[in-house]
Amino acid sequence: MKVTSIAAVTLLAASILFSANLTASSADQAGAQRHQVPVDSPLRELAKRQDLLIGTAVDHAAFTTDTVYRDRIATEFSSITAENVMKWEVVEPERGRLDFTAADELVAAARRNHQGVRGHTLLWHNQLPAWLTEGVNSGAITPTELRQILRKHIFDVAGHFRGKVYQWDVVNEVIDDNANLRDTIWLRNLGPGYIADAFRWARQADPKVKLYLNDYNVEGLSAKSDAYYRLAQELLRQRVPVDGFGAQGHYGVQFGFHSASEVMTNLRRFEDLGLETSITEVDVRMLMPPDTVKLQAQAQGYSVLMQGCLLARKCTSFTVWGYTDKYSWVPGFFTGEGAANLLDENFAAKPGYRELQAVLALAGR
Ligand code: G3I
Repeated sequence: MKVTSIAAVTLLAASILFSANLTASSADQAGAQRHQVPVDSPLRELAKRQDLLIGTAVDHAAFTTDTVYRDRIATEFSSITAENVMKWEVVEPERGRLDFTAADELVAAARRNHQGVRGHTLLWHNQLPAWLTEGVNSGAITPTELRQILRKHIFDVAGHFRGKVYQWDVVNEVIDDNANLRDTIWLRNLGPGYIADAFRWARQADPKVKLYLNDYNVEGLSAKSDAYYRLAQELLRQRVPVDGFGAQGHYGVQFGFHSASEVMTNLRRFEDLGLETSITEVDVRMLMPPDTVKLQAQAQGYSVLMQGCLLARKCTSFTVWGYTDKYSWVPGFFTGEGAANLLDENFAAKPGYRELQAVLALAGR
């Protein structure tokens, strides 16, 4: 189900602002609210009050060159995800040569800043090293060898970061938009059992980290999220160590959004299986240029995902996929679209940022 009415968006924003004032003044009068945090506090302080880790994907190149970008990550977020530098093409660019330099820099910074790290990702069909894809395509790497290579990769990477990350996206985007297992080198060569294998190897490599399924277009109730529900049920039935379900949250204002209650209902059904949940890669893009109406609609997109997460019982982290329009994957992938993040390219807060502050300040989790 989609909510598309801009009028509804405006009304909701107005009612949130109204209730923000109302809540603040009645709380002042009652003097009975727990642990007050001003609504204009950094997101991490507001989220802490909700027992929620709030994170951002980090662009390693920007992190090393732009101190404003780096400093704001520290003040604003309690969790980080490496946008690219934990992916296979970066950590093993040549077969047998592991390179964790960039990822280790992010992990060290997170430690200094008292932030958690989400691991992303142990197995995907994109950003694989050329030696691997070319080897499989040419037949030089056989299916039996590929299974050994995947096993070694998971032990190498999850082992390297053991105790340093709190969640791993073990398998990323393994179901396609028709709700079938995605046709990848993994499925074609290893069969559907590769998913269970990946989780079992990850558990052996790091016994304590939470192990996640992660995908896009699974925030609400849909054929694709139904397919994940059945996959999670089946894996748990086989005693595969799956701990969590991650919904990425890549939205576009031109498509409309789910309602908060639909997001909640979807997350809760996974939680009823015994899993925790997270919102893992939120951004809300728009056709350029931005205007007041699009920015207000964007705020609504961020809002429904945050509200859905807070209304669910075990939604543990909410991560945005980049936080400033200065650095975003969107314009490079969607021609004519952009402005998908909470802050603009000058690090000024957009309505979506204020909206997340208001929702976090008001929620009574
Ligand atoms: O690092 C190379 C650089 O050496 C080279 O000069 C340059 C030339 O294009 O490319 C650089 O690599 C790019 C990489 O990002 C790092 O900037 C790749 O071309 C580019 O394709 C890659 O895009 C990433 C994309 O995943 C790949 O599919 C995005 O930054 C990243 O935000 C995006 O993240 C994914 C999540 O992992 C999974 N969910 C969807 C999400 C958005 O697509």
